[in-house]
Formats: sequence, C-alpha cells, structure tokens
Amino acid sequence: MSESHRAPGPKIIAVANQKGGVGKTTTAINLGAALAEDGRKVLVIDLDPQGNASTGLGIDVADREKSTYDLLLDDVPLGDIVRPTNFENLWIAPATTDLSSADIELVTNERRSFLLHDALRQPAVTTYGYDHVLIDCPPSLNLLTVNAMVAAHSVLVPLQSEFFALEGLSQLMLTLREVRQTANPGLRIEGVVLTMYDVRNNLSQQVEEDARDALGDLVFQTRVPRNVRISEAPSFSQTVLEYDTTSKGSAAYRALAQEMLARGVGVTV
Ligand SMILES: Nc1ncnc2c1ncn2[C@@H]1O[C@H](COP(=O)(O)OP(=O)(O)OP(=O)(O)O)[C@@H](O)[C@H]1O
Ligand SMILES: [Mg+2]
Repeated sequence: MSESHRAPGPKIIAVANQKGGVGKTTTAINLGAALAEDGRKVLVIDLDPQGNASTGLGIDVADREKSTYDLLLDDVPLGDIVRPTNFENLWIAPATTDLSSADIELVTNERRSFLLHDALRQPAVTTYGYDHVLIDCPPSLNLLTVNAMVAAHSVLVPLQSEFFALEGLSQLMLTLREVRQTANPGLRIEGVVLTMYDVRNNLSQQVEEDARDALGDLVFQTRVPRNVRISEAPSFSQTVLEYDTTSKGSAAYRALAQEMLARGVGVTV
C-alpha cells in the first residue's frame, strides 16, 4: 500500500521498543515537535502508565482528568482527552498510572487489542485534521503496545547506541509479525533510529555497524546524538526544539523528521 492509497486521516506511528530507557518518549515528543514546526498537525498519544510524554509536554499529573485510560476502557472520545501543548501544532493525549491495570481489566474483552484502533477510527477523528499521530509505548510488549501496533500504520524503533541494543529486537519483530498476521496486515516498519549516539565512543560505532549490517536500509541515516539539552528539556516542560533550538539534539530531530517524510512509507519486513 503506497502512501497515497492510505485511507483519509492521520499517519499513525507507534514508537516502540520493549527495552526501557532507549529514547521512545524523547523521540515521540521531539520528532512530533519537529514535524509540528514543519507545519504539520501532530498528536502524541501517551500510552505509557509512566506518563512521561504527558509530563514532558507540560501536562501536570493533577491536571489529567481525562486520559488514554478513558479512551481505551471507557469509550471517551479522543476529542475529550486531547490537550494542546505550548508548541504550535502539537497536541497530547495524556496518560495516568490507571493505565497500568489495563491488561488485567481487559482480559475478558474480546476486542481488547483493537481498542486504540477503534478509538482512532471514529469518524470525528478525521475532522481534527492531524497529519501525524505518534504513539509513545511503554517498555513492554504488553497489551498496550499491541494496541499501538494494531492501531498504527507503522512502527518506529528507537535503538540506544549501547551494548545489547540489538538483543530484544528479534522479540519486537516477532510481535510485529504476529500483529501483522492477525490484526493489522498493512503494518510497516517506519525505521530504526539510533539514539544517544556518541561519535567518540567505539561502542556507539559498533552498535551502528551491527545495526546497519543486520537491518540495512531500515536504519535511518540520521542519528540522534547524546545531547544534554535533550535530557534537560522535559524538566522545563519543553521539547528540545523550544528549550535550545540551535542544539545538536534539535538539529537531529529536525533531520529525522525530514528523512522520515522523504522516505514516505515504511518498509515491510
Ligand atoms: N539523545 C539523548 N541525549 C541525552 N539524553 C537522552 C537522549 N535521549 C534520551 N535521553 C534521556 O534518556 C532517558 C531515557 O529516555 P526516554 O525516557 O526517552 O526513554 P524511553 O524509551 O521512553 O524510556 P521508558 O522505556 O522508561 O519509557 C531520559 O532521561 C532522557 O532524557
Ligand atoms: Mg518512555
């Protein structure tokens, strides 16, 4: 299916890797901001009970009356959950810790893997005019991540440039193929992005070499460098593009956005 044959509505990308702390949330927020800066309307959906994307985009815990928990479990429409951020063209559907019990609460629900899919295919959603939806997944291949993969057109995988980075990718690919075989045959891989890359570190270079050997063109040319401005920005409730617009981190996420847009559709693997 080429990009032009996609049904009307936003392009939905799940940002997933079951490994913790690899840059999923950072990528969802800052890639989202880079796309928004480029004039696209972007919604970040926080699907992680940790709620880091919500906090990073300035939604206080006390201020999350309606959340993705309500979207999935109580049929509350997307429009009642989404909040504007301080960044033009960037919106957030916040998460609360309630979401951590979703797996258990949904055990007997036959459509439990399709809840986010169904919520995002409500006719009203097209009227909001989002160009891109980025789903920030939890560090697990649980029901929430499966919901993201079932709802998405593609999966974007952040890969931390550290030892053992590639371990676990086969498990992720297995889950992706399973989702493709059962619920979402059109699911693509948007790409793999190296995060926290340090050019002076041999290990980063080794991980990059291994990743490019194993995954070829799936790996984006753009690497996100380890950059302290990226890690400081969320504590000011800002994306790195606002916090330090000329930083290397901002440049990397702008480049990633452009590379992703130029690539168009993801790859089937
Ligand atoms: N390019 C970077 N340079 C410096 N620090 C970074 C970079 N990317 C992410 N970090 C920091 O690394 C930590 C983990 O990043 P992040 O929260 O995005 O990972 P995650 O995959 O979403 O984690 P989790 O699995 O817990 O959801 C955070 O403190 C973040 O600020
Ligand atoms: Mg996260």
